[in-house]
Amino acid sequence: MSEHVANRPALPAEIARRRTFAIISHPDAGKTTLTEKFLLFGGAIQMAGQVRAKGEARRTRSDFMKLEQDRGISVSASAMSFDFDQYRFNLVDTPGHSDFSEDTYRTLTAVDAAIMVIDGAKGVESQTRKLFEVCRLRDLPILTFCNKMDRESRDTFEIIDEIQENLAIDVAPASWPIGMGRDFIGAYDLLHDRLEIMDRADRNKVAESVAISGLDDPKLAARVPADLLAKLKEELEMARELLPAFDRKSFLEGHMTPIWFGSAINSFGVKELMRGIGDYGPEPQPQKAAEREILPEEPKVTGFVFKVQANMDPKHRDRVAFVRLASGHFERGMKLLHVRSKKPMAVSNPVLFLAADRELAEEAWAGDIIGIPNHGQLRIGDALTEGEALRFTGIPSFAPELLQNVRAGDPMKAKHLEKALMQFAEEGAAKVFKPSIGSGFIVGVVGALQFDVLASRIEIEYSLPVRFEPTQFTSARWVTGPKTDVEKFVNTNKGHIAQDHDGDIVYLTRLQWDIDRIVRDHPALTLSATKEMM
Ligand code: G4P
Repeated sequence: MSEHVANRPALPAEIARRRTFAIISHPDAGKTTLTEKFLLFGGAIQMAGQVRAKGEARRTRSDFMKLEQDRGISVSASAMSFDFDQYRFNLVDTPGHSDFSEDTYRTLTAVDAAIMVIDGAKGVESQTRKLFEVCRLRDLPILTFCNKMDRESRDTFEIIDEIQENLAIDVAPASWPIGMGRDFIGAYDLLHDRLEIMDRADRNKVAESVAISGLDDPKLAARVPADLLAKLKEELEMARELLPAFDRKSFLEGHMTPIWFGSAINSFGVKELMRGIGDYGPEPQPQKAAEREILPEEPKVTGFVFKVQANMDPKHRDRVAFVRLASGHFERGMKLLHVRSKKPMAVSNPVLFLAADRELAEEAWAGDIIGIPNHGQLRIGDALTEGEALRFTGIPSFAPELLQNVRAGDPMKAKHLEKALMQFAEEGAAKVFKPSIGSGFIVGVVGALQFDVLASRIEIEYSLPVRFEPTQFTSARWVTGPKTDVEKFVNTNKGHIAQDHDGDIVYLTRLQWDIDRIVRDHPALTLSATKEMM
């Protein structure tokens, strides 16, 4: 938070109570289980179920879809809203698999905070680190949940050290585990001086919570076995000496993460974490646009599209654009300016993903995520305002690292293929390039698994079997510069030129050397690996 932000007047109450966040983790650390418990305690679902699908199969699509498939509940959405205490939570889904890092990156542009879930036995894993770095780029405040404490896990100090050293962030214990593995009985809540006792018999039951007036309170000795209590006292004494105390300012600036120890599957530590997000987490934050900073309390509505999801309902070819409201109080039926097309757009059937189903959003406030069904007008990066021509920044599109030719199994269906590809390009699920010579399309992705997901989606959603084949190219760069220079370049490099789905010029090659040469020989041109989605 900048000084400027810190000195602003208090936000309107409806905005101030909003907490918009995502959960990041390495696969299997427990993100789905934790999400499910959030929804349960937020009243969005009635019952927590069991994960049935195993391993890779359930990681290929979004975690919310996974929840839906595995547990038979309807949460077909990329964002869920629910109330907890006096707060309104907006939990935004991040795709589980590393191959969707670009999508994840964009999702993280729509939130104000993140929860990092780690497995108490495994500590910081590769995907945790990558996602953490993305959060750091945006200085997002991070709350840490160390999960699976009901199993054999690492020593508490070791876990904290690992996070501090690996991620270069201060870690302040918000709770301290008592016992470990089979002997794990609960945790000491350091922020509220309470003892939380886990109930192993009922996984959905919330822990018993006892107020304690300090470590010498006889209530502790009455509930914690003597050996565990002695260890707890010793560890807490060490922790007080060695570890920083929780400091909200440092947390909000992204320099410190509070850590809770718990067990998502046993519902243990989850409510404390939720209370942590509510009481200490950031209110909706200002958003950056090229023209100026947008403050959430501004009366006029502004927002940006960070995700487009197509075919949520295969019977209707609808698309839902997910919009993060950056400012104002939105009411259903409002006419907003679609800045890219300069056309007004009546938002008559916006969707809020509340409780167990989609609901029409009668109103929404800065910080909320609303879904706007549309026929393809809304794209990632688009701004909606009450008239001002704003361009929100920081929603990048990355150059794909893997390129393949795509062919329809049935050559008569080339037109269908083009339609399907354009739609996925607009959704941000892949880059689609049309080479200037020859027919067909080249599809670019960031991770190999995306090809499989695309092939299966084109088959399911368009009844069109497709194959991906190797191409001679390995890199793509967007070419910009003065019109005449670009045209001249295009005419002399036809074999390497393609257009993306927006019609922008892309240079394809297999050699970094080529790219270096062009940069050297054509100073007027810019070759870039990312393009802002506008
Ligand atoms: P993810 O979304 O981060 O990938 O993790 P998910 O919640 O699906 O949890 C992964 C596995 O860890 C699941 O086991 C889940 O039941 C288990 N799990 C989650 N929280 C806890 C916890 O607090 N304690 C223990 N002991 N286990 C927990 P699974 O259904 O057997 O799936 P799999 O591991 O066979 O894939």
